[in-house]
Amino acid sequence: MVRVDGLDKVTGAARYAYEFPVSGAAYVWPVGATVGRGRVTGVDAEAALAVPGALAVLDHTNAPRLRADFADSGQLLGAGGHMLVLQSPEVAHHGQIVAAAVAETLEAAREAAAAVTVTYEREPHDVVLREDDDGLYVPEVSTNDGTPGFVERGDPDGALAAAPVRVEARYTTPAQFPSPMEPHATIAAWDGDGRLVLHNADQAPFLSSLTLAALFGLDPGAVEIVSEHVGGGFGSKGSPRAAVILAALAARAVGRPVKIALTRRQMPSLTGYRTPTIQRVRLGAGRDGRLTAVDHEAVIQSSRSTEFVEQVVSSTRMMYAAPHARATLRLARLDVMTPVWFRAPGHTPGMFALESAMDELASELDMDPVELRIVNEPETDPENGLPFSSRGLVACLREGAARFGWADRDPAPAARREGRWLVGTGVAASHHPDYVFPSSALARAEADGTYRVRVGAADLGTGARTVLTQVAADALGTAPGRVRLEIGRASMGSPAFAGGSMGTASWGWAVDKACRALTAELAAAGGAVPEGGLEMRADTTEDIAGRVELSRHGFGAQFARVRVDTDTGEIRVDRMLGVFAAGRILNPLTARSQLVGGMLMGQSMALLEGAEVDQESGDFANPDLAGYHIASHADVRGIEAVFLDERDDRLNPVGGKGIGELGIVGAAAAVANAFHHATGSRARDLPIRIEDAR
Ligand code: MOS
Repeated sequence: MVRVDGLDKVTGAARYAYEFPVSGAAYVWPVGATVGRGRVTGVDAEAALAVPGALAVLDHTNAPRLRADFADSGQLLGAGGHMLVLQSPEVAHHGQIVAAAVAETLEAAREAAAAVTVTYEREPHDVVLREDDDGLYVPEVSTNDGTPGFVERGDPDGALAAAPVRVEARYTTPAQFPSPMEPHATIAAWDGDGRLVLHNADQAPFLSSLTLAALFGLDPGAVEIVSEHVGGGFGSKGSPRAAVILAALAARAVGRPVKIALTRRQMPSLTGYRTPTIQRVRLGAGRDGRLTAVDHEAVIQSSRSTEFVEQVVSSTRMMYAAPHARATLRLARLDVMTPVWFRAPGHTPGMFALESAMDELASELDMDPVELRIVNEPETDPENGLPFSSRGLVACLREGAARFGWADRDPAPAARREGRWLVGTGVAASHHPDYVFPSSALARAEADGTYRVRVGAADLGTGARTVLTQVAADALGTAPGRVRLEIGRASMGSPAFAGGSMGTASWGWAVDKACRALTAELAAAGGAVPEGGLEMRADTTEDIAGRVELSRHGFGAQFARVRVDTDTGEIRVDRMLGVFAAGRILNPLTARSQLVGGMLMGQSMALLEGAEVDQESGDFANPDLAGYHIASHADVRGIEAVFLDERDDRLNPVGGKGIGELGIVGAAAAVANAFHHATGSRARDLPIRIEDAR
């Protein structure tokens, strides 16, 4: 089934947050701090207010107050001190909002913002992540998956010392920018009853509404967020960041609806980035390749105001059957914007390191890297002993090896030349947890034979709207064309959100349940729909709580073929093949796009993406698409995603595992491993640069 919203999107009928018509709107333009740390000593708004059309200049002295104690007030996804916009003169990072201009037009707001003069008392800042930072500490839990910052089983040091074969390597990944196609944008309006209505580019409308309600001291439910269409998020729209909060503040201050749209250059310091990582992996193995010890440490950063901890070592804890293991996170608190969720948080940078180290171990052992992974396949989850609901890694590796032509591979590095090019192939495993969150849905039969289904989902361009329409039609026993699906509002009330690859399973479960209940009710009524229609609601909180405890994850195998120009060092990815075991695939078209997109992001991470941190200014040096490169269609020479037919009836009624993030995990390692096979050089610091090909 093709996308139900495809026509609307390509004809421009689909409305994104900024595009909703709103009468009497004013425009907001933020003023970012030009120091990396310190305090605002003065904001001179005179010239700004003289700009024709200027309405107001907000700063910490006149902005409406937020609840500083909001972090204690309930279930707040990603909440932290960075949300206290314009509440104090303190400057925590470069680019932080220190003032904002509000004006009748976008142009006037921009001009007025440029005319605001801010003076500072400057303090020294530190924005560079270092593994020898005195302030490093082991955080109690990671923010996303709630797992401990330190886990150990057995005696990893003893086992490493005794291991016949060992590898130890240090890997780094840079800060990375989410770069959704639609930059962050908000329309904010307060109604006469003190209710806040936002049109917002949002991955989690309901949870964001709770956060904003707490922040503004409102009842939960007093904030409505509309997110009908969202042009990508990659995690950065998963919780309210500074610009959304500024919009709500400004609308209250001027007593009018306001619009704000960030530029690319404003995004990194206002909406976040993935933490850079410095990782060390130590592997010990017998000569047969069986791992005896795995030790993985990741040094990551957060801001001073908020402990945001990316779960960089979580995959390592359950990937392979090693009797002795240790996984450690160490966190630095720097003068930076709080990092944000980003494209398989933790698993993506963590698996780059682990799967690169596995390749190094295969070289050390003189063993095929596919085989090395197969001999280390665990029978149950190595960390908690739980059975896997299903685990398709070995099947993916075998299927991928057969399709890729892996059997003919000569393992010797730097041994294949095609003209000026050195050619190599690499493999890596992929993994992502299969999350599911409680959700609720409403299904309604209309007297005219059509159906209306409502669920608090957001579609980031993934195809959620399409797949949920299919799920509903299946459960109702009707054609998808007879189902009208309504999504994208906080008031629809689903705590499940478009992140963590949990959307389809979580919302789909509730939709399936509501539609089945409606079908049963209709059957009981003899098939006739009462004149006023008939509706049923369903909630999955208890179904999820009642699930048998199992280790539920998606798996995959990533293969890459790379060419490196021996004169210039230019690196090209000729071919990527991903084979994935992710339960039932509900829609092969949208699923393929998810996985191929993820794989391309992995290529992008391997070869292009890297934020440059400037210690001098405290700012990013390349906060736009001219300086921060992402892979595009022209970088794709051949990319293919294959799904194995995996039946797993212990996941959820729709039978699928999350696929949003599975495609990216391991993809960068596959490219880096292919680069080594081509050139004989190990690329341990991403992105790989032409000077690495020596
Ligand atoms: Mo994704 S980084 O879970 O939005």
